[in-house]
Amino acid sequence: MKRGQFLRSLGLSTSTLMAFYCLGTTMTACGSKEDDPDPVDPNPSGGTGVTGTTTGSAINFTIDLTKNTSLKTAGEFKIFGDVLVAFSTSSTYAALSKICTHEGNTVGYRKAQNDILCPFHQSEFSLTGAVEQGPAAAPLKAYKTSLSADGNTLTVTA
Ligand code: FES
Repeated sequence: MKRGQFLRSLGLSTSTLMAFYCLGTTMTACGSKEDDPDPVDPNPSGGTGVTGTTTGSAINFTIDLTKNTSLKTAGEFKIFGDVLVAFSTSSTYAALSKICTHEGNTVGYRKAQNDILCPFHQSEFSLTGAVEQGPAAAPLKAYKTSLSADGNTLTVTA
């Protein structure tokens, strides 16, 4: 039985029913705030200084790090199309699908844990994409990264 059917079965007045509905809405809103998962950094979308294909199955793009300087700071990340690029706390680059393999929500990088978290149901992934904690069962797709000799261009390929 749904909530509305249950409340109507109690024979309550319309105004009382509305109070229940509003209370339910308020509690839901409060509950979702209290249930906020471990925070990931705000979704920092890349835009400038990127050329190539950042979405779909033929990922192949370059990032001008002189225009995306945060990616020269260990523990930072950006999202380019379908790909999350992180400069890990150990100063290595990782590029992974941003699409969680559980239900397709957007994952984020956690500096403190140096890993990937899906904030929707708390799946955790290593920087190689391996599942460290479910509910996700399949790994994130990992892409190859290559840094230019001068350290100013990062290439991401499938
Ligand atoms: S969508 Fe990522 S854990 Fe559920």
